[in-house]
Amino acid sequence: MNIIEVTNLSHRFSDGTIGIEGITLSIQEGEFVVIAGRNGSGKTTFLRHLNGLLLPDTGAVRLGGVSVSRDIPRARQMVGMVFQDADSQIVGETVFDDVAFGPENLCLNECEVKRRVIKSLEVVDLIDIADQRPHLLSGGEKRRLAVAGILAMEPRILVFDEPFSDLDYPGVRQLLHQTLLLHKAGHTILIATHDLEKVIAHADRLLIISDGKVVMDNAPEMIIKDVEAFGVREPCASRLGMEIESWLN
Ligand SMILES: Nc1ncnc2c1ncn2[C@@H]1O[C@H](COP(=O)(O)OP(=O)(O)O)[C@@H](O)[C@H]1O
Ligand SMILES: [Mg+2]
Repeated sequence: MNIIEVTNLSHRFSDGTIGIEGITLSIQEGEFVVIAGRNGSGKTTFLRHLNGLLLPDTGAVRLGGVSVSRDIPRARQMVGMVFQDADSQIVGETVFDDVAFGPENLCLNECEVKRRVIKSLEVVDLIDIADQRPHLLSGGEKRRLAVAGILAMEPRILVFDEPFSDLDYPGVRQLLHQTLLLHKAGHTILIATHDLEKVIAHADRLLIISDGKVVMDNAPEMIIKDVEAFGVREPCASRLGMEIESWLN
């Protein structure tokens, strides 16, 4: 089943800049998709249409058959989005309260809110510091807190926009590990990055965006050798001639 259907999607900003142009694609439930492209190619603009943070000039995004523009609250619940700047997403006085904010706004009862917060904090391994003040967390912990906040909304689709930028190596490993568990649990995963090295071995599909258009869309091993033409660094292991699957650890 296609959980995401994008047809002829274009967005022009008010100053006339074209963000994305004529994007058409479908994503199946449970896919793990990596979106790459040089800075300014349109990755963030594209992702922001998936939950109605931006609305199309032309075209449409449908989630499970329903247009995002027609029902934005539904889209926000279906698509959980973790942004690059984890700090700006912090809203609570404690780690627990921060994660509770989303489900509380869904008007769920207290018991259900608590259940979801505990479950989400367990997934990202922050349950032991549920009482801490979020601003005291490390960069990696803040990113995982942001992930817990979206998990508590129980979205079927998880979108990560440059999730690894400014994380140290343990932070990257932990976030990647948790993302893979979420994929195994059935979530559809989209990750935008200009750094393929960290994730590509796990992806089912690689989309390359350039100048607002999808210029390649295929299994990673089919196109990994051709990405440099679009400002994306080919991973070292690929350059050395290693099969993508063999980098999995
Ligand atoms: N709010 C905005 N106003 C005007 N132009 C924008 C805005 N946001 C992004 N852009 C432009 O849209 C294009 C795509 O940007 P973006 O989607 O952020 O790319 P990426 O995430 O791939 O780096 C770029 O040319 C960028 O400068
Ligand atoms: Mg971006």
